[in-house]
Amino acid sequence: MSESPDQQPVAALIILAAGAGTRMKSRKSKVLHEVAGRSMLGWAVHAANGVHPQRLSVVVGHLAEQVSEYLHEFAPEATTALQAEQHGTGHAVKCGLDPMGEFSGEVVVTYGDVPLLSAETLQALVSEHRAAANAVTVLTARVPDPTGYGRIVRDASGRIVEIVEDRDADESQKQIDEINSGIYVFDAELLRAGLAQLGSSNAQGEQYLTDVLGYAVSRDLPVGGYVTEDPWETEGVNDRQQLARLDHEANRRQLVRWMKAGVTIVDPLSTRITADVGLGIDVTLQPGTILSGATTVGDGAEIGPDTRLHDTEVGAEASVIRTEANLAVIGERAVVGPFTYLRPGAELGTGAKAGAFVEVKASTIGEGAKVPHLSYIGDTTIGERANVGAGTIVANYDGVAKHRTLIGKASFIGCGTTLIAPVEVAAGTYIAAGSTITEAVPAGDLGVARGRQRNVEGWVAKRRAGTRTAAAAEEAASGSSPVGE
Ligand code: UD1
Ligand code: CA
Repeated sequence: MSESPDQQPVAALIILAAGAGTRMKSRKSKVLHEVAGRSMLGWAVHAANGVHPQRLSVVVGHLAEQVSEYLHEFAPEATTALQAEQHGTGHAVKCGLDPMGEFSGEVVVTYGDVPLLSAETLQALVSEHRAAANAVTVLTARVPDPTGYGRIVRDASGRIVEIVEDRDADESQKQIDEINSGIYVFDAELLRAGLAQLGSSNAQGEQYLTDVLGYAVSRDLPVGGYVTEDPWETEGVNDRQQLARLDHEANRRQLVRWMKAGVTIVDPLSTRITADVGLGIDVTLQPGTILSGATTVGDGAEIGPDTRLHDTEVGAEASVIRTEANLAVIGERAVVGPFTYLRPGAELGTGAKAGAFVEVKASTIGEGAKVPHLSYIGDTTIGERANVGAGTIVANYDGVAKHRTLIGKASFIGCGTTLIAPVEVAAGTYIAAGSTITEAVPAGDLGVARGRQRNVEGWVAKRRAGTRTAAAAEEAASGSSPVGE
């Protein structure tokens, strides 16, 4: 079966990302700032992959090394081309195109700072280019305030004649509300010829990529436009206010996507879901929930309120309330929170519990095992159906090294126990409340490790005479009940 024409790859795609991004006032490259948990450049590469480019190049300049390192790690399919000095968008495309050598076909140009551009819109632009057999097709949008953008100038019959930059536009051209997104499909041959004759006699003294469209018109080649209904997709980021605006919109789109997929989001305004999160059906997200990284949540689980999960796996029907978790695994029907801190390597089995004010690190809590209140569990394996009493602390660190602790299945650890690692408490044991356990407890035993109680008779009357405590003692001695009722 042959591919449908829209699935056929484009010959090349060039992402422009050399600009300085001065208004961000950042040590980090503008294109590495994140929108919905993914860098803007990451979004650009994601959209690019939607048109299956045979050659993918990112033009870098400002903070080139930082950007190249990022691409090396997260988008190894992309090559980088250096634009050492930024002489304009036309010059930038030249820098990306020249190292690709000779080839024919379509060249798509996008920007590294336009994070909401979707793969679907890029595909639609390519389809339009193919259907109209254009030499150039530009993605445009009609916007209420076109200030700052290049304007699409059309003739009486509606054909695109040229693109005029805001700073070069006359008063009547400034009235045009159709803007150039800066995203195009070019025929490679036309693009090379157009770039070769670019000048820089304009208001900014730059080589404008937009002039290639005028060049195509002058050669009587077909130039088309594809007007997107969704101007968000063409919006770029120049400062942190625009970054926040687009981040908010990108998040809103993630929420809409998940609500359509069967997730209940009680308060969309206080909920964040970044791009790579995965959710099952009938998941409920309570207000103040933030899900990020590679977090996944199984069917029917309930998360929040006020919970942040990063790179965390939550099983079906689990309940996670007021919790901070990073690189943790929460089993099916497990119960977590409120006020629980799950650190890397915390793993709760099916139906397990980590309750109020419990911190867990690099530890497994077995199936049905419970750590319900006020505990620190570090470097520990807890067997299935064990119960760890309130206030139990695992002393996993001796000041030099960390050691492991084992609590066998169905064991019962009394309240306020301290387990000094390394130590093993076998399956089926009891530990008396308040114990400090330093040695192994064999299966079936009761471990007791605490001072035996002694009472000093009459101490209050002798040493605290005249206090209200002494008075109560006297009263109790004269026959009222021991609690003084
Ligand atoms: C450009 C377009 C304008 C369009 C607008 C959309 C031109 C001449 N103008 O204007 O019609 O409405 O985008 O946002 O193309 N870049 C480089 N190297 C350079 C210059 C720019 O890599 O030498 C990159 C920038 O990093 C940025 C993109 O190209 O990602 C656009 O550059 P920018 O300076 O923002 O172009 P505008 O003047 O806004
Ligand atoms: Ca811009």
